[in-house]
Amino acid sequence: MRQKVVRLFTTAIAAAATTVVVMAFSTGPPIKRTGAAIDGGTDCSACHRTFAPANSDTRGKVTIISSGSYTPGVKQNIDIKIEHPEALRWGFQLTARPVSDLTKMAGTFTSTPVIRVQCNPSGDSPCNGDLEFASHRSAVVTAATGSYTYTVEWTPPVNEVGDIMFYAGGNAANNNGANSGDYIFTTSARISAGGACNQTVKPTVRTLVNGAAFNNTMAPNAMASVLGLNFAVPGRSRLASSGDFVNGGFPKELACIALEINGKRAPITYVQNDQINFQVPTTVGSGPMQAVVIANPGRPNELRSDVATVTLTNYAPAFFTFTGGKSIAALTSDFKILADPALVPGGVKAKPGDVVLLYGTGFGVTEPVYQAGEIPDGVTKMRDAFTISIGGDDAGRFRHSVRRNRSAIHLRPVPVQRPNSRQRGER
Ligand code: HEC
Repeated sequence: MRQKVVRLFTTAIAAAATTVVVMAFSTGPPIKRTGAAIDGGTDCSACHRTFAPANSDTRGKVTIISSGSYTPGVKQNIDIKIEHPEALRWGFQLTARPVSDLTKMAGTFTSTPVIRVQCNPSGDSPCNGDLEFASHRSAVVTAATGSYTYTVEWTPPVNEVGDIMFYAGGNAANNNGANSGDYIFTTSARISAGGACNQTVKPTVRTLVNGAAFNNTMAPNAMASVLGLNFAVPGRSRLASSGDFVNGGFPKELACIALEINGKRAPITYVQNDQINFQVPTTVGSGPMQAVVIANPGRPNELRSDVATVTLTNYAPAFFTFTGGKSIAALTSDFKILADPALVPGGVKAKPGDVVLLYGTGFGVTEPVYQAGEIPDGVTKMRDAFTISIGGDDAGRFRHSVRRNRSAIHLRPVPVQRPNSRQRGER
C-alpha cells in the first residue's frame, strides 16, 4: 500500500520571514508552469533546474489520464500520474483550453483540501472565467519511490467547444525540501467532444434562408442559414473559430452537425438548436437542390433529417443588418457605425462624398474563385461587376472585394462611394 505522508519540514522553517514566500512553492507552484507554449512555454524547471530542461530523464514522465472525451457540463476526473524510479515527493500543475482558442479556459477545476486552484493573473478559485491552474496544495510524500497520481475534478464548459487541450507539468522530487535534485516533466493531451455526439432526436429542417436578408434566395458561396429544430441541445450554441479550421478553412462538421446540399458538405460557422449558419458550397450550381441536416455525422448513431428543397440562383445579393434589422450593416471609412442614431445607438451619419463600407453576401464568386469555407489570403475581387444604388441614385459599378477576415467569412465589405455630383464609374 502506498502511504501518503504530509511533510512538515517547511512549516518548521516558516518562522523565518524570508522563507514564507519560498513556502508557497511546495504548496502550489506559481501559475503558467505547465510548459504550454500559449502561456510562454515555461515549466517547473525554471526553478527546479538540477536536471533541466524538462523531460531530459527518460526514466520518468507525467501522464494525463482522462476518458478521452467530454460531455458538456458533466463533471469528470482527470488523473495526473507522475513517475520516476528515484522520486519520493510529487507535485503538478494542470490547465485546460479549447483547441479553438487556447488563450481561454475550458471549464473549471474543483478546489479540495488536496487540490489548489489558482487563477490568472492572481488569487484562488472561483476564477470567474479567467484561466485556471490546478496544482497540489501540499506536495505529497510517498514511502516508496516510483509514482504518484493526483486526481483533479473538472467540469467541462456547458457549451460544446470542440476538442480540448490539457497541459500538465509534473515534479518527481527527492523530498529534500528544496528545489534541487528534482525531475521535471511536461505533457499535453487532447480530448474530443466526441462524447457530445449523442443527439437522440432526428433534426427537422423547416426552411433554408439567405443569411443576410432571411428570404429564400440563395447563391453558391453565399452565407445562409437552416432554420428548424433539434440541431443542438436547447440553450447550447457553438461558434466556429480558428481552432476548428480544417486545412485552413471552415469545418464541415461543427458541434456534431453536418449539412449536405445535393450531397456536398457545406462549411458551417454556427450551430444552435433551431439554426445552423453555413456557406453554400461553391460547385453545386443553380436550380432546385436537396438539403439534409445530419446529427452525429459518420457515427453509428447518425440521424439524418428529411430532405428539404432549396432553390439556388447565380446571385442572391443581400445586405447584412445591424441587430434588429432596422439598418443595413455599414461603417464609415474610419470604422464608425454608419446608421441613424435613432435606430442604432451610437450611429453616425454620412455626407455626400463619404466612402462607406457595406456588408453583404450573395454577390457571386470571387476572382480567383475561393471554394466555400476557404479563407482568402487578402482582398479578393468579385468576379462579376454589380451596381449599388442609394436612394435610387446609382452609386457606381463595383468589382470589389472580399476582405480577409479569419473569424467571419460572411463579412464582405464593399467600398462604396456615395454619389457626389452624379459622378460614377469603377473605382
Ligand atoms: C519560482 C520558482 C519555482 C517554480 C517555478 C516551481 N517551484 Fe517548486 N519549489 C521551489 C522552491 C524554492 C522549493 C523549495 C521550498 C518549498 O518547498 O516550498 C520548491 C519545492 C517544490 C517541491 C518539493 C521538493 C522536494 O524535494 O521536497 C515540489 C514537489 C515542487 N516544488 C513542485 C513544483 C512544481 C510541480 C512546479 C511546476 C508546476 C514547481 N514546483 C515550480 C520553487 C519553484
